[in-house]
Amino acid sequence: MNKISYKLGLLFFSFIILVEVILFYFLYSGLLDSRIEEELAALRARGESHRHVLEQSLDDMTIEHVALMESETDTDVVIMTHEGEVLAKSTELTPAIQSLMQTERGHVPFEGMIVESRWETQSYIASVSPIIINEQLVGHVYMFKDTSSIQKMISKLQHHFMLVGSLLVIFTIITVLFLSQAITQPLIRMKKATERLSKGDFSVSINHTSKDELGELANSIQTLANDLNHLKKERNEFLASISHELRTPLTYVKGYADIARRKGISEEERNKYLHIIYEESEHLSSLVKDLFELAKIDQHSFVIKKEKVSMCEFIKNLTQKIEPALHKKKINLIVTCPTGIYANLDRSRFEQVMINLLDNALKYSSSESTVTLKVKVNDVTNKLTISVEDEGIGIPESEIPLIFNRFHRVEKSRSRESGGTGLGLSIVKEIVEAHGGKVFVDSQYGKGTVITIEIDQF
Ligand SMILES: Nc1ncnc2c1ncn2[C@@H]1O[C@H](COP(=O)(O)OP(=O)(O)OP(=O)(O)O)[C@@H](O)[C@H]1O
Ligand SMILES: [Mg+2]
Repeated sequence: MNKISYKLGLLFFSFIILVEVILFYFLYSGLLDSRIEEELAALRARGESHRHVLEQSLDDMTIEHVALMESETDTDVVIMTHEGEVLAKSTELTPAIQSLMQTERGHVPFEGMIVESRWETQSYIASVSPIIINEQLVGHVYMFKDTSSIQKMISKLQHHFMLVGSLLVIFTIITVLFLSQAITQPLIRMKKATERLSKGDFSVSINHTSKDELGELANSIQTLANDLNHLKKERNEFLASISHELRTPLTYVKGYADIARRKGISEEERNKYLHIIYEESEHLSSLVKDLFELAKIDQHSFVIKKEKVSMCEFIKNLTQKIEPALHKKKINLIVTCPTGIYANLDRSRFEQVMINLLDNALKYSSSESTVTLKVKVNDVTNKLTISVEDEGIGIPESEIPLIFNRFHRVEKSRSRESGGTGLGLSIVKEIVEAHGGKVFVDSQYGKGTVITIEIDQF
């Protein structure tokens, strides 16, 4: 038995028992009172009926007859005159009976009265009725009943109550045990699941299908477990990719450094090797920079500081920065940007986005082709779209959904030649989504690619 069901069970049990005790108490005392009431009323009614008979004819025979009748029952009668002389009795006049007959007889009401009702302490309960003939009080009829029979009846009643009470307690215990187990079982299962989660075992499955809050909790834990499992897998894959990506350039650096330091190679050759080493180091440092960027995004320590940015000015600034690279590859860049368009974005982060997109457009196009950068407002959605279109190698349709994955490159070898790490577009996507925007790809293999970003206007 676990702690929570023990606690819950105890609480339920105490509460139910308390309610039961209170109810039983009222039931018992109500029943008892009404039983005693009935006994007293019956006693008095019997006395009344004798008195009526005696009022009809107060002769010796009738008196005798009444006494005889009572000697056969569990009640007793004493008939006496107004002066105190006993006319007839159905039992011996014990001191207890005699003391009960000492009551002030002058005040007995017409309908009779109860002389003794203390059944617990006295040996008799008693009533008295007046005998009135021609409006003259002639005597009294005393009725007695031995309280031992009442006590016997009451103890029987108590016995029944005890029996029902103990049955009820047993039944309550069983119900409470069952209920508290049923309520706490899912909680315990969830606790065990979270314990396993905290130990790194994410393969938990909680089968709790109810639609209440417990069901929701179970669902949340299940989702958490699934997410953690997914994250763990992703992290492992990511680490594997990183080490792979780092190893390749390092192998080059190591290999060429080894060759370059050999004696007897020409200055020209050495320069060539040093150049390769330089390029690879460059590649490594950009890889590390990108990784750092992604790590910041993952840690949420990456803050987007949005501001009102004039798109044309922003684009103009950008094109100036990439001018040398364009020039080198003899690529013609066409920019269309209507004036007066403003966006709400983080200037330096968004510059990173645009540079990544333009860098791709340059890298994956042949020289002397055209790259088009268009900024416009969508009339229907009223959103801002920025598209970068190239006439380059394009992306095979099957690869399109994958290019935003980290380290994903369509053709690893070719991309390596151009120094790509496969992180550019994943960074683009993260930053655009952090701005509340979306990225779309439209590409035809061998013809060209259009990458479109959609964000809100200022
Ligand atoms: N404009 C494009 N034309 C053709 N292929 C593209 C284009 N943009 C991206 N790709 C393909 O998508 C892959 C992923 O692009 P991404 O920018 O993420 O990586 P990368 O350019 O290889 O490296 P990085 O940008 O990190 O230097 C690229 O390797 C390339 O195969
Ligand atoms: Mg790129």
